[in-house]
Amino acid sequence: MMKMASPDWRADWTQEAWDRIAAKISVTSERIGDRFPHASVNGRYTLEPSHWWTAGFWPGLLWLLYRDTKEDKFRAIAESCEAQLDQVVMDYYKLDHDIGFMWTLTSVARYKLTGAEDAKRRALLAANLLAARFNAKGRFIRAWNPWKPGENNSGWAIIDCMMNLPLLHWASSVTGDPRFAHIAAAHADTVLEHFIRPDGSVRHIVIFDPGTGERVGYHGGQGYSADSAWSRGAAWALYGMALSYMNAGDERHLEAAERVARFFLASLPADSVPHWDFRLPEDAPKYRDSSAGAIAACGLLLLAKHVEGERSEGYRSAAARMLHSLYTNYGAWDRDEEGLVLSGTSHVPEGKNIDVPLIYGDYYFAEGLSQLLGHGELFW
Ligand code: GLY
Repeated sequence: MMKMASPDWRADWTQEAWDRIAAKISVTSERIGDRFPHASVNGRYTLEPSHWWTAGFWPGLLWLLYRDTKEDKFRAIAESCEAQLDQVVMDYYKLDHDIGFMWTLTSVARYKLTGAEDAKRRALLAANLLAARFNAKGRFIRAWNPWKPGENNSGWAIIDCMMNLPLLHWASSVTGDPRFAHIAAAHADTVLEHFIRPDGSVRHIVIFDPGTGERVGYHGGQGYSADSAWSRGAAWALYGMALSYMNAGDERHLEAAERVARFFLASLPADSVPHWDFRLPEDAPKYRDSSAGAIAACGLLLLAKHVEGERSEGYRSAAARMLHSLYTNYGAWDRDEEGLVLSGTSHVPEGKNIDVPLIYGDYYFAEGLSQLLGHGELFW
């Protein structure tokens, strides 16, 4: 079999891909405006309410574009999305741990790009609400509120929360108060102990006794089963642990990120875009999840900055190879489709949004390219 050369991460395709993203999002923004897209079904993004966990990705994508193009249209829409999140804070019951995704890509992004004082205030309020979900006995951040009356999920923690921790680190860095970072570090340590397996595969949900803090069980969540390896969960762990290392410098978090990276890369199919779960039985459906690939590529790019030599170059070229495959094999460029990247898979066990573009897949694809092009610091 002929070995395919890795695409050069500095080569022209990155600028071409970026220009196509900007052109497409410019058109899509005319229809979506300041609403909150999630999954693209039959070529058009479906919309979610502002409290849904995905609310930050559309404004985040617009901020990535604004940073490069300085187009006021992108900034204005992103600001309007951010303002709508104020009402979510008052509607307290709908807030969960995804506060980090939501306010990092809105208020923190705007603060980093413009220095706006009101963006800082909003993000600090959000960080306080996230910190308040910390269970001190179990040393984890509680994931959700009850989905239905009577449900008790106060001991549930999920791997996705690794990507909410940067909001806490940011809050400590701008206030000089280490409380937020202590909580982030404690949660990351719990993830290290209970979620990331020795082989680098990752659990989605771990259940603790909220009173004693003892681990009492596991749940498969969005993966095939409690013993399988949901690929987006691995991607959240890879990028989240790399960000934890960037923010706090704990070598154990770097080791964990690299362990997950090795597992992730070894589990990829020939086109470098993951299936939705890396540990599927023969008869299970083998959908791709392009969003997991885009998230993991961003994590690999960050790892490449924090290690040296061959390890660094290896992560960078793996990320470039994954983003290049998303661009050439899964890019929705020449069709009537609002999404950027095809074949994202949101929730197979619940049969939701399978094999469609997802706004977070689009966001991380754009973030990865923006990093390859050297556009500026991360919003995380
Ligand atoms: N629960 C967030 C995700 O689908 O990754």
